Amino acid sequence: MRPLQALIDTEALRHNYRLACRAAPGSRALAVLKANAYGHGALECARALSDLAPAFGVAAIEEALALREGGITQPIVLLEGFFEPGELELIAAQQLVCVVHSEWQLEALAEARVSAPIAVWLKCDSGMHRLGFTPEAVPDVWRRLNALPAVGECGLMTHFATADQPACALFDRQLTAVAGLRQALGEPPVCWANSPATLSRPTAHGDWVRPGIMLYGADPLTHANDLSSALQPVMTLESRLIAVRELAAGEPVGYGSRFVTERRTRLGVVACGYGDGYDRHAVDGTPVLVDGQRAALAGRVSMDMLIVDITGLPAAGVGSRVTLWGRAPDGTVLPVNEVAACCDTISYTLLTGVTARVPRRPWLRSSS
Ligand SMILES: Cc1ncc(COP(=O)(O)O)c(C=O)c1O
Repeated sequence: MRPLQALIDTEALRHNYRLACRAAPGSRALAVLKANAYGHGALECARALSDLAPAFGVAAIEEALALREGGITQPIVLLEGFFEPGELELIAAQQLVCVVHSEWQLEALAEARVSAPIAVWLKCDSGMHRLGFTPEAVPDVWRRLNALPAVGECGLMTHFATADQPACALFDRQLTAVAGLRQALGEPPVCWANSPATLSRPTAHGDWVRPGIMLYGADPLTHANDLSSALQPVMTLESRLIAVRELAAGEPVGYGSRFVTERRTRLGVVACGYGDGYDRHAVDGTPVLVDGQRAALAGRVSMDMLIVDITGLPAAGVGSRVTLWGRAPDGTVLPVNEVAACCDTISYTLLTGVTARVPRRPWLRSSS
């Protein structure tokens, strides 16, 4: 069998969830499981959190129904609401919670005849300018929503654009806008904080926090704090060396000859490539762990393989374990953020980008 696998450590997931609860002790934490739990396997993650998390968040009804079919009974929030009015009866029957961000959704709810009222989060666009009603429009929308027979409990939601940055005027402006609305609407339940706000903005915690990426162990802050430093990686992308060769100085390596050896060089070929989701933008020198020790990417990533310089690791050979990100068997961690920085991207795209051909398997602590 191809040795590449994504090992999922559900104990680390539970640790990170508890850390979100510790960071926001006065709030409940809705665990965001959209995009297949950021590539980790939504149902497995929901099951692993089901005795801890009072609610989950997903992007669409398809994702919610897959969790229901898997036996998940908690409230599940559709973070973009419904995409067409035809979904509303299923949302009511499955007791899903719906974000309402646009006038067309409000009109559809006004027309809807559903078997049970639907709980909703009214989304305010407090400054990110993606989804939601303007702060000026919210009081009227709130009044109309609360008068609809199809609508049950209502709360106020927003999403921050810059909570990861330590001091940012936009964050303050967003928080001031929604805090004012909360008061004006008579203190309804509120849900504002994503991972960075959960970890670093206590004034934005509200009744519910909405952590995503932190649950999977990637630090979302531009400047780590004590809490974010305690996150543990959940996914380890692991493979093995399948070939080793030695080259003289001056030899080209891989497609396009991007890397040229500067000295006598020992290279290891790893079974992992962009067809698995490893980013082809990774630069020479991108870190990789070989038997827990740092080695450097050499040359362009191919579809199914990549090449690492193991000149400094004489004990490494065919069969050596390679950690592309996550935790090596000896406990050494290669943060996915560090790999992402070498690919000019973010942890979110690497984690969600691991392709379907990579088997997700449980991380077995005894095998580490
Ligand atoms: C509406 C909404 N809430 C919460 C989250 C979770 O954000 P994060 O993964 O940064 O915690 C996201 C993610 O993009 C989102 O779109």
